[in-house]
Amino acid sequence: MHWSKVLSRVLRSPIKDNYLISGNTTMGIGGYAEHFVEPYNKEDIVSILKTKMDLGFPLYIIGGGSNLIIRQGSIRGLFLSTSKLSDISVQSTRDNFLFEVQAGVSVSNVLKKAFSVSAEGLEYLVGIPGTIGGAISGNAGGKGYAISNNISWIESIEPDGSFRRWDKNEIEWNYRFCSLSNDRRIITRVGLKLSHGNTDKIRTKTRTFWEIRKYQPYNYKSAGCIFKNPEGYSAGKLLDECGCKGLKSGEAMISMKHANFIINLGSADYSDVLNLIGECRSRVLESTGIDLELEVRLIDA
Ligand code: EPU
Repeated sequence: MHWSKVLSRVLRSPIKDNYLISGNTTMGIGGYAEHFVEPYNKEDIVSILKTKMDLGFPLYIIGGGSNLIIRQGSIRGLFLSTSKLSDISVQSTRDNFLFEVQAGVSVSNVLKKAFSVSAEGLEYLVGIPGTIGGAISGNAGGKGYAISNNISWIESIEPDGSFRRWDKNEIEWNYRFCSLSNDRRIITRVGLKLSHGNTDKIRTKTRTFWEIRKYQPYNYKSAGCIFKNPEGYSAGKLLDECGCKGLKSGEAMISMKHANFIINLGSADYSDVLNLIGECRSRVLESTGIDLELEVRLIDA
Protein backbone atom coordinates (compact mmCIF):
# COMPACT_ATOMS: atom_id res chain seq x y z
CA MET A 1 0.00 0.00 0.00
CA HIS A 2 1.21 3.56 -0.71
CA TRP A 3 2.66 5.23 2.38
CA SER A 4 0.10 8.06 2.28
CA LYS A 5 -2.78 5.54 2.40
CA VAL A 6 -1.15 3.83 5.37
CA LEU A 7 -0.82 7.18 7.14
CA SER A 8 -4.38 8.27 6.46
CA ARG A 9 -5.57 5.03 8.05
CA VAL A 10 -3.48 5.29 11.21
CA LEU A 11 -3.31 9.02 11.93
CA ARG A 12 -5.92 10.96 13.86
CA SER A 13 -4.64 14.30 12.49
CA PRO A 14 -5.95 14.92 8.95
CA ILE A 15 -3.61 14.73 5.95
CA LYS A 16 -4.09 17.30 3.20
CA ASP A 17 -3.16 16.53 -0.42
CA ASN A 18 -1.61 18.96 -2.92
CA TYR A 19 -1.28 21.60 -0.27
CA LEU A 20 0.00 25.06 -1.28
CA ILE A 21 2.97 25.45 1.04
CA SER A 22 3.97 29.09 0.38
CA GLY A 23 1.63 30.31 3.14
CA ASN A 24 3.62 28.31 5.69
CA THR A 25 6.79 30.29 4.99
CA THR A 26 7.61 33.89 5.90
CA MET A 27 9.14 34.41 2.44
CA GLY A 28 5.80 33.45 0.85
CA ILE A 29 7.38 31.24 -1.82
CA GLY A 30 6.77 27.59 -2.64
CA GLY A 31 4.66 25.17 -4.65
CA TYR A 32 2.48 22.21 -3.72
CA ALA A 33 3.34 19.69 -1.04
CA GLU A 34 2.19 16.24 -2.13
CA HIS A 35 0.92 15.72 1.44
CA PHE A 36 0.77 17.97 4.49
CA VAL A 37 0.01 17.24 8.12
CA GLU A 38 -0.06 19.18 11.40
CA PRO A 39 0.03 16.43 14.04
CA TYR A 40 -1.69 17.36 17.27
CA ASN A 41 -0.42 14.45 19.31
CA LYS A 42 2.80 12.54 19.83
CA GLU A 43 1.26 9.20 18.80
CA ASP A 44 0.73 10.52 15.29
CA ILE A 45 4.34 11.67 15.09
CA VAL A 46 5.50 8.21 16.17
CA SER A 47 3.31 6.62 13.47
CA ILE A 48 4.72 8.96 10.81
CA LEU A 49 8.33 8.19 11.72
CA LYS A 50 7.70 4.44 11.93
CA THR A 51 5.95 4.44 8.57
CA LYS A 52 8.85 6.37 7.10
CA MET A 53 11.23 3.70 8.45
CA ASP A 54 9.12 0.92 6.91
CA LEU A 55 8.12 2.41 3.58
CA GLY A 56 10.57 5.28 3.02
CA PHE A 57 9.29 8.65 1.81
CA PRO A 58 10.63 12.21 1.85
CA LEU A 59 9.73 14.00 5.08
CA TYR A 60 10.14 17.74 5.60
CA ILE A 61 9.70 19.14 9.07
CA ILE A 62 8.70 22.77 9.20
CA GLY A 63 8.08 25.14 12.09
CA GLY A 64 7.29 28.79 11.44
CA GLY A 65 8.89 28.59 7.98
CA SER A 66 11.03 31.63 8.73
CA ASN A 67 14.33 30.27 7.49
CA LEU A 68 12.98 28.34 4.60
CA ILE A 69 12.72 28.77 0.83
CA ILE A 70 10.79 26.14 -1.10
CA ARG A 71 10.78 25.61 -4.86
CA GLN A 72 7.70 25.95 -7.07
CA GLY A 73 5.84 22.99 -8.57
CA SER A 74 4.83 19.74 -6.85
CA ILE A 75 7.09 18.33 -4.21
CA ARG A 76 6.86 14.64 -3.47
CA GLY A 77 6.65 13.58 0.15
CA LEU A 78 5.11 14.67 3.43
CA PHE A 79 5.46 18.13 4.95
CA LEU A 80 4.98 18.01 8.70
CA SER A 81 4.23 21.28 10.46
CA THR A 82 4.75 21.45 14.23
CA SER A 83 2.18 24.27 14.59
CA LYS A 84 -0.28 22.22 16.68
CA LEU A 85 2.37 21.41 19.30
CA SER A 86 1.49 24.62 21.06
CA ASP A 87 1.52 24.12 24.85
CA ILE A 88 3.61 26.17 27.19
CA SER A 89 3.89 25.77 30.97
CA VAL A 90 5.93 27.59 33.58
CA GLN A 91 7.40 26.32 36.83
CA SER A 92 8.82 28.80 39.26
CA THR A 93 11.41 27.60 41.76
CA ARG A 94 13.32 29.59 44.36
CA ASP A 95 16.33 29.97 42.04
CA ASN A 96 14.82 30.29 38.57
CA PHE A 97 12.02 29.54 36.12
CA LEU A 98 11.68 26.47 33.98
CA PHE A 99 9.58 27.02 30.86
CA GLU A 100 8.39 23.80 29.25
CA VAL A 101 7.58 24.73 25.69
CA GLN A 102 6.31 22.57 22.86
CA ALA A 103 8.18 22.92 19.57
CA GLY A 104 5.41 24.71 17.67
CA VAL A 105 5.03 27.66 20.08
CA SER A 106 6.12 30.90 18.43
CA VAL A 107 9.16 32.68 19.78
CA SER A 108 7.01 35.78 20.31
CA ASN A 109 4.52 33.87 22.49
CA VAL A 110 7.36 32.58 24.67
CA LEU A 111 8.58 36.16 25.08
CA LYS A 112 5.07 37.37 25.99
CA LYS A 113 4.76 34.63 28.60
CA ALA A 114 8.21 35.44 30.00
CA PHE A 115 7.29 39.11 30.29
CA SER A 116 3.99 38.30 32.02
CA VAL A 117 5.76 36.42 34.84
CA SER A 118 8.90 38.66 34.92
CA ALA A 119 11.19 35.91 33.69
CA GLU A 120 14.42 37.33 32.33
CA GLY A 121 16.98 36.02 29.84
CA LEU A 122 15.37 35.68 26.40
CA GLU A 123 15.18 39.36 25.44
CA TYR A 124 17.74 38.88 22.63
CA LEU A 125 15.13 36.80 20.76
CA VAL A 126 12.82 39.78 20.25
CA GLY A 127 11.81 40.17 16.61
CA ILE A 128 13.02 36.71 15.63
CA PRO A 129 10.15 35.08 13.73
CA GLY A 130 9.28 31.40 13.79
CA THR A 131 8.82 28.73 16.43
CA ILE A 132 10.91 27.57 19.37
CA GLY A 133 11.57 24.29 17.55
CA GLY A 134 12.94 26.22 14.58
CA ALA A 135 14.95 28.55 16.81
CA ILE A 136 16.60 25.51 18.40
CA SER A 137 17.27 23.75 15.10
CA GLY A 138 19.20 26.81 13.89
CA ASN A 139 20.51 27.85 17.35
CA ALA A 140 18.95 31.25 16.72
CA GLY A 141 20.24 34.41 18.33
CA GLY A 142 22.23 37.51 17.70
CA LYS A 143 24.67 39.95 19.28
CA GLY A 144 26.62 37.20 21.01
CA TYR A 145 23.55 35.41 22.47
CA ALA A 146 22.07 32.14 21.29
CA ILE A 147 19.15 30.03 22.46
CA SER A 148 21.54 27.21 23.42
CA ASN A 149 22.43 29.33 26.50
CA ASN A 150 18.91 28.97 27.87
CA ILE A 151 18.33 25.30 27.10
CA SER A 152 18.01 22.88 29.98
CA TRP A 153 16.80 19.81 28.06
CA ILE A 154 15.16 18.82 24.79
CA GLU A 155 12.63 16.05 24.14
CA SER A 156 12.52 14.41 20.76
CA ILE A 157 10.94 11.53 18.91
CA GLU A 158 13.73 9.59 17.26
CA PRO A 159 13.72 8.17 13.70
CA ASP A 160 12.61 4.74 15.03
CA GLY A 161 9.65 6.30 16.89
CA SER A 162 11.19 6.11 20.38
CA PHE A 163 11.02 8.99 22.88
CA ARG A 164 14.25 10.56 24.05
CA ARG A 165 15.17 13.31 26.46
CA TRP A 166 18.49 15.06 25.85
CA ASP A 167 20.37 16.91 28.48
CA LYS A 168 21.84 20.20 27.24
CA ASN A 169 25.37 18.77 27.55
CA GLU A 170 24.62 15.83 25.25
CA ILE A 171 23.93 18.24 22.40
CA GLU A 172 26.58 19.88 20.25
CA TRP A 173 25.96 23.58 19.73
CA ASN A 174 27.70 26.02 17.49
CA TYR A 175 27.03 29.23 15.59
CA ARG A 176 23.63 28.54 13.92
CA PHE A 177 24.08 24.83 14.54
CA CYS A 178 22.39 22.24 16.78
CA SER A 179 23.41 18.60 16.41
CA LEU A 180 19.82 17.34 16.96
CA SER A 181 18.54 19.02 13.85
CA ASN A 182 17.63 16.72 10.95
CA ASP A 183 14.57 15.55 9.05
CA ARG A 184 14.33 12.13 10.68
CA ARG A 185 14.04 13.25 14.30
CA ILE A 186 11.34 15.55 15.61
CA ILE A 187 12.00 17.91 18.47
CA THR A 188 8.74 18.00 20.43
CA ARG A 189 9.42 19.92 23.64
CA VAL A 190 12.11 21.93 25.30
CA GLY A 191 12.97 23.09 28.81
CA LEU A 192 14.21 26.67 28.97
CA LYS A 193 15.86 28.12 32.05
CA LEU A 194 15.17 31.78 32.86
CA SER A 195 15.96 33.99 35.84
CA HIS A 196 13.66 35.86 38.19
CA GLY A 197 13.77 39.40 36.82
CA ASN A 198 11.86 42.64 36.98
CA THR A 199 9.59 43.96 34.27
CA ASP A 200 11.28 47.34 33.90
CA LYS A 201 14.66 45.76 33.26
CA ILE A 202 13.17 43.20 30.88
CA ARG A 203 11.39 45.98 28.99
CA THR A 204 14.59 48.03 28.69
CA LYS A 205 16.65 45.06 27.49
CA THR A 206 13.93 44.09 25.00
CA ARG A 207 13.91 47.64 23.61
CA THR A 208 17.69 47.59 23.18
CA PHE A 209 17.54 44.37 21.19
CA TRP A 210 14.56 45.63 19.21
CA GLU A 211 16.68 48.61 18.07
CA ILE A 212 18.71 46.15 15.93
CA ARG A 213 15.57 45.44 13.90
CA LYS A 214 15.55 49.04 12.71
CA TYR A 215 18.42 47.99 10.45
CA GLN A 216 16.53 45.00 9.11
CA PRO A 217 13.63 44.93 6.61
CA TYR A 218 11.13 43.36 9.03
CA ASN A 219 8.14 44.92 7.27
CA TYR A 220 8.76 42.88 4.09
CA LYS A 221 8.41 39.16 3.46
CA SER A 222 11.83 37.58 3.89
CA ALA A 223 13.54 34.49 5.25
CA GLY A 224 15.83 36.42 7.59
CA CYS A 225 19.55 36.46 6.88
CA ILE A 226 20.38 34.49 3.76
CA PHE A 227 24.04 33.72 4.46
CA LYS A 228 25.86 32.80 7.66
CA ASN A 229 28.46 35.22 8.90
CA PRO A 230 31.91 33.90 7.96
CA GLU A 231 34.19 33.84 11.00
CA GLY A 232 35.34 37.36 11.78
CA TYR A 233 33.09 39.03 9.18
CA SER A 234 29.51 40.17 8.73
CA ALA A 235 28.00 38.68 5.57
CA GLY A 236 25.72 41.74 5.31
CA LYS A 237 28.68 44.11 5.32
CA LEU A 238 30.58 42.07 2.70
CA LEU A 239 27.50 41.93 0.46
CA ASP A 240 26.96 45.66 0.90
CA GLU A 241 30.57 46.42 0.00
CA CYS A 242 30.20 44.28 -3.13
CA GLY A 243 27.29 46.46 -4.28
CA CYS A 244 24.55 43.87 -3.78
CA LYS A 245 21.94 46.17 -2.21
CA GLY A 246 19.06 46.79 -4.61
CA LEU A 247 19.91 43.90 -6.97
CA LYS A 248 16.68 42.46 -8.36
CA SER A 249 15.49 39.32 -10.05
CA GLY A 250 11.77 39.36 -10.87
CA GLU A 251 10.11 40.50 -7.64
CA ALA A 252 12.93 39.38 -5.36
CA MET A 253 15.32 42.07 -4.24
CA ILE A 254 18.35 42.47 -2.00
CA SER A 255 17.12 44.80 0.72
CA MET A 256 18.41 48.38 0.68
CA LYS A 257 18.37 48.30 4.49
CA HIS A 258 20.48 45.21 5.07
CA ALA A 259 22.29 43.37 2.28
CA ASN A 260 21.93 39.91 3.85
CA PHE A 261 18.15 39.91 3.36
CA ILE A 262 16.28 39.00 0.18
CA ILE A 263 12.83 40.53 0.25
CA ASN A 264 9.79 39.36 -1.68
CA LEU A 265 8.17 42.43 -3.24
CA GLY A 266 5.04 40.50 -4.21
CA SER A 267 5.21 37.52 -6.48
CA ALA A 268 8.88 36.53 -6.33
CA ASP A 269 9.49 32.87 -7.05
CA TYR A 270 12.13 30.34 -6.11
CA SER A 271 14.22 30.88 -9.25
CA ASP A 272 14.38 34.65 -8.55
CA VAL A 273 15.78 33.92 -5.12
CA LEU A 274 18.30 31.41 -6.50
CA ASN A 275 19.46 33.97 -9.08
CA LEU A 276 20.12 36.53 -6.38
CA ILE A 277 21.87 34.01 -4.14
CA GLY A 278 24.14 33.02 -7.05
CA GLU A 279 24.90 36.62 -8.02
CA CYS A 280 25.67 37.68 -4.44
CA ARG A 281 27.82 34.67 -3.73
CA SER A 282 29.94 35.12 -6.85
CA ARG A 283 30.38 38.87 -6.27
CA VAL A 284 31.69 38.27 -2.74
CA LEU A 285 33.86 35.33 -3.85
CA GLU A 286 35.41 37.35 -6.66
CA SER A 287 36.25 40.40 -4.65
CA THR A 288 37.15 38.85 -1.27
CA GLY A 289 37.88 35.16 -1.88
CA ILE A 290 35.20 34.25 0.72
CA ASP A 291 32.64 31.66 -0.32
CA LEU A 292 29.51 32.53 1.68
CA GLU A 293 27.57 29.65 3.18
CA LEU A 294 23.77 29.63 3.17
CA GLU A 295 21.97 30.09 6.46
CA VAL A 296 18.51 29.55 4.97
CA ARG A 297 17.32 26.07 4.18
CA LEU A 298 16.34 25.41 0.57
CA ILE A 299 13.90 22.68 -0.35
CA ASP A 300 14.39 21.91 -4.03
CA ALA A 301 14.07 18.13 -4.20
N1 EPU B 1 26.33 46.17 7.70
C1 EPU B 1 26.57 46.93 6.59
N2 EPU B 1 25.71 46.80 5.53
C2 EPU B 1 24.66 45.94 5.55
C3 EPU B 1 24.44 45.14 6.69
C4 EPU B 1 25.29 45.29 7.77
O1 EPU B 1 27.49 47.70 6.53
O2 EPU B 1 23.95 45.87 4.55
C5 EPU B 1 27.23 46.35 8.86
C6 EPU B 1 26.48 46.95 10.05
O3 EPU B 1 26.46 48.35 9.97
C7 EPU B 1 27.28 46.43 11.21
C8 EPU B 1 27.77 45.07 10.75
O4 EPU B 1 27.66 45.07 9.33
O5 EPU B 1 28.40 47.26 11.44
C9 EPU B 1 26.98 43.92 11.35
O6 EPU B 1 25.63 44.05 10.98
P1 EPU B 1 24.41 43.60 11.93
O7 EPU B 1 24.54 44.24 13.27
O8 EPU B 1 23.15 43.78 11.18
O9 EPU B 1 24.67 42.08 12.21
P2 EPU B 1 24.84 40.89 11.20
O10 EPU B 1 26.11 40.23 11.55
O11 EPU B 1 24.60 41.31 9.79
C10 EPU B 1 23.67 39.11 12.74
C11 EPU B 1 22.75 37.94 12.46
C12 EPU B 1 21.29 38.41 12.45
C13 EPU B 1 20.97 39.12 13.76
C14 EPU B 1 21.94 40.30 13.90
C15 EPU B 1 21.73 41.09 15.16
C16 EPU B 1 23.77 36.28 11.02
C17 EPU B 1 23.96 35.83 9.62
N3 EPU B 1 23.03 37.38 11.17
O12 EPU B 1 23.60 39.96 11.60
O13 EPU B 1 20.47 37.26 12.35
O14 EPU B 1 19.63 39.59 13.74
O15 EPU B 1 23.30 39.78 13.92
O16 EPU B 1 21.89 40.32 16.27
O17 EPU B 1 24.26 35.66 11.96
C18 EPU B 1 19.28 35.74 10.94
O18 EPU B 1 20.03 34.88 11.36
O19 EPU B 1 18.34 35.50 10.15
C19 EPU B 1 19.54 37.12 11.33
C20 EPU B 1 18.91 38.13 10.77
